[in-house]
Amino acid sequence: MSHYLVTGGAGFIGSALVRRLLEKGEQVRVVDNFSTGLRANLQEVIGRIELLEGDLAEEAVARRAVAGADYVLHQAAIPSVPRSIEDPIASNRANITATLNLLVAARDAGVKRLVYASSSSAYGDSETLPKVETQPENPISPYALTKLAGEKYAVMFHRLYGFSTVSLRYFNVFGPRQNPGSPYSGVISRFLSAAFGGRRPTVHGDGEQSRDFTFVENVVSANLLASRAESASGMVINVGTGERHTLNELLRALGAILGRDLKPEYVARRAGDVRHSQADIGRARQYLGYEVKVGFEEGLRRTVTWFQEAVQS
Ligand code: UD1
Repeated sequence: MSHYLVTGGAGFIGSALVRRLLEKGEQVRVVDNFSTGLRANLQEVIGRIELLEGDLAEEAVARRAVAGADYVLHQAAIPSVPRSIEDPIASNRANITATLNLLVAARDAGVKRLVYASSSSAYGDSETLPKVETQPENPISPYALTKLAGEKYAVMFHRLYGFSTVSLRYFNVFGPRQNPGSPYSGVISRFLSAAFGGRRPTVHGDGEQSRDFTFVENVVSANLLASRAESASGMVINVGTGERHTLNELLRALGAILGRDLKPEYVARRAGDVRHSQADIGRARQYLGYEVKVGFEEGLRRTVTWFQEAVQS
């Protein structure tokens, strides 16, 4: 049994990691400040984890959180591009200051490896598709910049101090528990909230922008692989599906699952929005042994099922 710290463990991705780690019989500690995470996400596991409530932007919290941990899966962050445009200071603190505190604390505590949740937003609006780790980064929002800064720190800690880190660039993750109540939630969660609430989904722009929508289970498996893969130390690795779908295609796919037409309302495009995004997953395959476990359609079906149950309860 290994001891895992999941930062942001009350969040959508963090809580999925927690559940999987418990299934595998690992010992789990969660640190969360509940700024975007929800206690409800941990309800079914609360007696089986150690829960530390606190903000990693405070050094003392970071030190307490890592004590005794073998592996750290660092998910804690303020996600959302628009939110970072409204309040770049909050995103900077949660995504950069907290990450640096955690890296220092984990290095000093003798943690074996830290896996950092980076973001596909690092690529920005590059023309090249699919996006490959060797191409230059070009962040176009504060969110993207903060995630990339955390990643640069993670890589630097490997080089400077020999502290083992792996950065996973997640591509638009979706699935059960992605906060349906938050206006800053991912687009699939927003569309389903609208559909189940009897409202029309809002599309920013013409709906022809595309994303590599990645079901959360794939990201969970990439994290578990990344915490152990020897040769991945110090690396930056895309985690996606290698496909992309436009928002208009997404609406049609959701409509087909729900058995009704989702008539969206088209509004102005969002500031800081990337046009197209699609991952090259060659490096993940090579260094992590990663494969896509759940594809787009199946992921959508599972997410819709969760929404149906969540709405009924
Ligand atoms: C970006 C990152 C992603 C990161 C996420 C964190 C890229 C390519 N992706 O996601 O890796 O995890 O930030 O928040 O940079 N939209 C609508 N209607 C809505 C909501 C969104 O049309 O109600 C549109 C957005 O304008 C965007 C697309 O849907 O074009 C996806 O938006 P969203 O789900 O918020 O994620 P990204 O900003 O792409």
